[in-house]
Amino acid sequence: MALLEIKNVVKRFGDYTAVNNVSLAVEAGEFFTLLGPSGCGKTTLLRMLAGFEQPDAGQILLDGQDMSHVQPEKRPVHTVFQSYALFPHMTVRDNIAFPLKMANWEKSKIATQVEELLADVRLSQFGDRYPHEMSGGQRQRVAIARALVDRPRLLLLDEPLSALDAKLREEMQLELISLQKEVGITFVYVTHDQGEALALSHRIAVMSNGQVEQMDAPETLYSKPKNRFVADFLGQCNVLEGTITSLNGDSMQINLKGCGEVRCLSVPGAQVGQTGWLALRPEKVRLDKQLQAVAEEAHFRGRVHDCLYLGDVTLYVVEIGEGIFVETMLANSIPGVAKFFDDNDCVEIAWRFDAGSFLTE
Ligand SMILES: Nc1ncnc2c1ncn2[C@@H]1O[C@H](COP(=O)(O)OP(=O)(O)OP(=O)(O)O)[C@@H](O)[C@H]1O
Ligand SMILES: [Mg+2]
Repeated sequence: MALLEIKNVVKRFGDYTAVNNVSLAVEAGEFFTLLGPSGCGKTTLLRMLAGFEQPDAGQILLDGQDMSHVQPEKRPVHTVFQSYALFPHMTVRDNIAFPLKMANWEKSKIATQVEELLADVRLSQFGDRYPHEMSGGQRQRVAIARALVDRPRLLLLDEPLSALDAKLREEMQLELISLQKEVGITFVYVTHDQGEALALSHRIAVMSNGQVEQMDAPETLYSKPKNRFVADFLGQCNVLEGTITSLNGDSMQINLKGCGEVRCLSVPGAQVGQTGWLALRPEKVRLDKQLQAVAEEAHFRGRVHDCLYLGDVTLYVVEIGEGIFVETMLANSIPGVAKFFDDNDCVEIAWRFDAGSFLTE
């Protein structure tokens, strides 16, 4: 049985539906992420798990028990928010001990437990400091330690790293991964940052407009998006319109608008004449002055329309038909060279027939 089960949950504010019939299950020990653009209902769903909001319909079960009449403080669930809500007049140690004192734990047991949590978040040296004497990342680690100190079944994290700068955020992401492994507590994590979701999660639910669009492991979401919203939201993606012209078992031919015929992987229910979009990640597209034609590959000539230097890689936008652009990237592997091609250079691109996925919605 899953640790957390959300069944057909609906939440309305007036006549606006913020969460629209969401169902999902989270296994014990999982790092599960709700990912989606601003306003799609992530925080609202999390607040219902914590018990701060009541669903208008549907059920939330924890360990098989219906939570609808369980008060927030009685749920084995804690929440870490974006802003570290620490008590400013208490030391780090007292901040972490606070929930245990409230629960009337024995003094010696509190001390042992707090030291263990300090070690878990790598702050053993900082127990006597006050919050204002610590960096943002350290304060957020204290908030996480405090939320974990009485070993909840479920930890909810609502954009806990979004107030940190990029470098610190990356460090904290690595720490969160190892912390979650160490403590073995189930995390439900909310973010609108797709990179963060891909890096941290065992599974991700991509949300839009209060609904779950797709729920899968990061690599499946990235390589096999179900629809254009998911393809587009999870990183750079070329989306090329096309019509199916023939079906040949596992693969099919499509006529890409303005470019011509290419082969791609077939999709369930595909029919000749059906229109859709080939979703193709830029890193799956080869680019060179000239490319040897290979049987498994689609192959086009084009012109560089734009280049975008990104440091580690440069993104090239290649026009392969009138008004039809394909983005591709090359690693900047030669020291001091920022790009291999310039605007208007004649180039060739190619991709394997199984590199993209054909989307019908
Ligand atoms: N208490 C409320 N009263 C009225 N509308 C609300 C309330 N809380 C949330 N909403 C609306 O519900 C929708 C979902 O809000 P929610 O906070 O869940 O989004 P989110 O996905 O967490 O967005 P963000 O990434 O910006 O935090 C939004 O349109 C929001 O304006
Ligand atoms: Mg939110």
